[in-house]
Amino acid sequence: METKTFDVRDIIEDRNALEDKLGEAAEMLKNGGTVAFPTETVYGLGANALDEAAVKKIFEAKGRPSDNPLIVHIAETDQLKELVKEVPEKALRLMDKFWPGPLSIIMEKTALVPDCVTAGLGTAAIRMPENPEAYVLLKLAGCPVAAPSANLSGKPSPTKPEHVLHDLTGRVNGIVLGRTCDVGIESTVIDMSTEPPVILRPGIITKEDIEAVIGTVKIAGRKTDQQSVPKAPGMKYTHYAPNAPMILFDSDPAEMTAEILKRAADELAQGKKVGIIATDETRGLYETQLAPGLRPNTCILSTGSRGDLMTVAHNIFHILRRFDEEKVDIILSESFEAEGIGFSIMNRMDKAADEIK
Ligand code: TXA
Ligand code: MG
Repeated sequence: METKTFDVRDIIEDRNALEDKLGEAAEMLKNGGTVAFPTETVYGLGANALDEAAVKKIFEAKGRPSDNPLIVHIAETDQLKELVKEVPEKALRLMDKFWPGPLSIIMEKTALVPDCVTAGLGTAAIRMPENPEAYVLLKLAGCPVAAPSANLSGKPSPTKPEHVLHDLTGRVNGIVLGRTCDVGIESTVIDMSTEPPVILRPGIITKEDIEAVIGTVKIAGRKTDQQSVPKAPGMKYTHYAPNAPMILFDSDPAEMTAEILKRAADELAQGKKVGIIATDETRGLYETQLAPGLRPNTCILSTGSRGDLMTVAHNIFHILRRFDEEKVDIILSESFEAEGIGFSIMNRMDKAADEIK
């Protein structure tokens, strides 16, 4: 399949120029095609949510299991009418506060939304993304757009145009090349069809942010404990997996740094190329401590400072993909305190990791 690109990197602040540039991409969506586009969280792979044949192309392009439902993206709240039976009062308050923005809200769907979008569930997740490229594309297309993250199924979500080109060239009709995504991890998903509401996927809009608006909500805890928990091999393909095995060190910062240094030295001694997910606070330490002669065999990448978790979230998927480029044999990662945005970051890292120590 030929994949046409629409480069809007220079015109993002100019609505008129965006409309000129994205007209053809919007036509592709209207005509049942697939178009990847940037949102403030990660890039999405879109198709007309009301066109069953178009939605099936998304699953095919990504290699996504058909039992995993998609998020429906809208430009205006008017579009809710055709998609959901009713908007609960608390959902309305969340929309007022957080839309457009990185929050997907699950509500009871209408019969108009095809089963393939929701994997047969009676509910649909709806989201109004914030950035201008997404807004203009959705507005011009004039239809709700189902869009999972624009990666091959199982790979880290794409936060840069190069990631989408790498995964989807030849597999989709169009790719909008925009900015690096500001947020860097996917939207918070909250199920408002139950009481109390349940956060199904944490994001940068945290449980605390939501509770400040609508009161108590439920959230699942981390699926890990402090012991070593190797995942069942069959589970590995499901999420964010870099090519190399990844070990997540989950203890207090001083201890995990020491453990990573020790493990890195062992792996290097065996001739392995080692990737380390560090922080600004520890990168220098790894660089000086690992024997200089072996340094070419290490790739040490910092997610940012521990004091700035927004930046860590912004960088995490890009860093996982960098290790694929660097062809490391093993990835040793620091972890973060699972509080607030740290909880959402750890949700992604737990899934990316093969083993948690
Ligand atoms: O930030 C985002 O949400 C990005 C951008 C492109 O908008 N999209 C995204 O889509 O991350 P995806 O398909 O990778 O993740 C959708 C998540 C999945 O975990 C899916 O199971 C859940 O939302 N989901 C969607 N509809 C659901 C429903 N009706 N009930 C329960 N979970 C649902
Ligand atoms: Mg995804």
